[in-house]
Amino acid sequence: MAEIHVGRADSIASGERAIITHGDVEIGVFNWEGEFFAYRNHCPHQGGPACEGLLMHRVLEVMGEHNTYHGMKWDKGEMHFVCPWHGWEFDMRTGECAADRTWKVRSYKTELRDGELYVLA
Ligand code: FES
Repeated sequence: MAEIHVGRADSIASGERAIITHGDVEIGVFNWEGEFFAYRNHCPHQGGPACEGLLMHRVLEVMGEHNTYHGMKWDKGEMHFVCPWHGWEFDMRTGECAADRTWKVRSYKTELRDGELYVLA
């Protein structure tokens, strides 16, 4: 297993990301609220740069009695990164596709030592 040095952890602010390369593989490293997550920058749909799109919370549809529709709201407990090619959304914590959890972006472990961030690939 390779240990890839990303840099100083504090160089990636919360809500930001870095795209690093390891050989011919690109990896997106996210800081979400002080936790680091790393995924291959390759969408399982058609190979788009999944880690380079928007970050947005999961959207919930609010339904009332008798299936009446009451609009949408954000689920602040689940953050998604969105592939810029066709909009597939992936759970920041798992890499799973929000619409079908059987699809996943490849994930990597991250490690923090003395303020330095590493990806284990
Ligand atoms: S390639 Fe990512 S959504 Fe299609």
